[in-house]
Amino acid sequence: AQNEKDSQYIISSWAKDHYHKLLLKSDEGQGIGLSYLRQRGLNQTTITTFELGYSLDQWDDLLKTAEQVGYDRKYLEKTGLVVTRTDDAGQDTGRRYDRFRGRVMFPIHNISGRVVGFGARTLKPNDKTAKYLNSPESEIYHKSDILYGLYQARQAIRAEEVCYLVEGYLDVLSLHQGGIKNVVASSGTSLTDGQIRLIKRYSDNVTVLYDGDAAGIKASLRGVDMLLEGGLNVRVVLFPDGDDPDSYIRKVGDQRFQEYLNSQSQDFISFKTKLVAREAAQDPVKKAEAIRDVLQSIAKVPDPIKRQVFLQQTSAAFSIDEQVLITEYNKLVRTAS
Ligand code: CTP
Ligand code: MN
Ligand code: MN
Ligand code: MN
Ligand code: MN
Repeated sequence: AQNEKDSQYIISSWAKDHYHKLLLKSDEGQGIGLSYLRQRGLNQTTITTFELGYSLDQWDDLLKTAEQVGYDRKYLEKTGLVVTRTDDAGQDTGRRYDRFRGRVMFPIHNISGRVVGFGARTLKPNDKTAKYLNSPESEIYHKSDILYGLYQARQAIRAEEVCYLVEGYLDVLSLHQGGIKNVVASSGTSLTDGQIRLIKRYSDNVTVLYDGDAAGIKASLRGVDMLLEGGLNVRVVLFPDGDDPDSYIRKVGDQRFQEYLNSQSQDFISFKTKLVAREAAQDPVKKAEAIRDVLQSIAKVPDPIKRQVFLQQTSAAFSIDEQVLITEYNKLVRTAS
């Protein structure tokens, strides 16, 4: 089985090189892919560091080239780089085609720096298919155990003693280019235990920088609870509605972005408290629900001293007597366990 895996690593690395060469050397890659990345503000260093690429807008460029070089198509299929066409009954028709066509390619590295999969962005403004296509799970690619950018960020996370967590590929690239190198992406999906354990190997501190839209805020609330259970210290930075970290750093520049992070970052409890307090407004029933919601989050913090501090903060934020709050908290913990 080790040989099987090795063959998948080898084909993925080869494909990464192929896409990278196409981006930099082919007419189509330069004209469509490279100019797109430039227009998104990315420079050559970033493109090289992250080994970005371009897949030709053809059905079988990767498949044909791989077979010419002598690779077994079995591994292209196992890594999902090539797709098997089935008929209506689900039977293999024998036809094969490239999964990624006419897209900018983002290789996904594991922490040893080996390529295990790809994210791929369409360049067509009105594409009917998904904006991003991703490699499927394979023997070498377990989505739940991967954070995009961690390989390039790991030393900076240790040095800065904090990991910035963003949603998307472009967020990682723009921040890294702007000098914030301790940044990884959850790639749009909700966080997993595996990803949280991965972060914990490098730092106990996470600052969540999710998109400033409703989906991003919801995702941060969910993600934060998981991070807390993992025993991480969590801070949150919100962006104006419609902005994500990438669009915002492009708008305000590196320096003002860093200042924004410093001034806007708040610990999770004030973030969640403000959010639920705002939703509850003056309605006492809703307010009680909101407080219980915050208490649920606090219950996830493993450290009793931190829990105590959060309870004090919550009591102040909602103007609720601390003893009343603690009684309520104890009730809640008892019924939960
Ligand atoms: N994503 C995905 N599939 C989609 C949409 C999103 O896998 N159909 C993942 C990608 O990893 C993407 C992240 O979710 O980077 C965040 O999604 P979104 O905010 O919509 O995209 P951006 O990263 O902001 O991309 P862009 O700026 O190019 O629009
Ligand atoms: Mn796994
Ligand atoms: Mn979004
Ligand atoms: Mn974006
Ligand atoms: Mn986004």
